[in-house]
Amino acid sequence: MSEFNNPKLEILISTDQLKERVREMGAQITRDYAGRNPELICVLKGAMVFMSDLVRAIDLPLSMDFIAVSSYGKGMNTSGEVKIVKDLDEPLEGRNIILVEDILDTGLTLNYLSNNFRSRGASSIAIATLLNKPDRRKVDVEVSYQGFEIPDKFVVGYGLDFAERYRNLPFIAVVKDPV
Ligand code: IMP
Ligand code: MG
Repeated sequence: MSEFNNPKLEILISTDQLKERVREMGAQITRDYAGRNPELICVLKGAMVFMSDLVRAIDLPLSMDFIAVSSYGKGMNTSGEVKIVKDLDEPLEGRNIILVEDILDTGLTLNYLSNNFRSRGASSIAIATLLNKPDRRKVDVEVSYQGFEIPDKFVVGYGLDFAERYRNLPFIAVVKDPV
């Protein structure tokens, strides 16, 4: 049974659209960070597919690190406290950070992480998110690089999951009646 041709999936952003947009974002970061050797921080697991394509579109010396977070409890509360499940390997002192995320939804995760990174002494922090769902925002988050703005629908693919499934889809899709 094919996963990529699953009839329950309705494609929202195609593989070609993703390729083109990620290439543009990489070119823009290449221009903006010339001479600054940015550190790209991937928020696991969702951002790993985007991160791996994005870094190959940035023609600069750069470094990478990885962090994994989970929200406290099932539904994230408005305090927006998130738990760091796997922390960074390298110190942030003096670094120019690009925080790479799959999707900006309520904003609680990225708001927490950018405050946390600032308190660890990063010189600058920019956010690169593949997707942005502005309808669901609870806290303001300043985004420097955004792939696509999408409507308030639950999407999967290209790193994003539904109960850990669908991360390997080479496109972004909406799941019709997910169960
Ligand atoms: P925020 O803190 O509400 O902005 O949460 C962002 C996180 O929620 C993302 O990193 C995703 O893991 C998850 N998320 C939000 N919307 C979606 C979606 O449509 N599909 C899959 N995961 C989502
Ligand atoms: Mg997730």
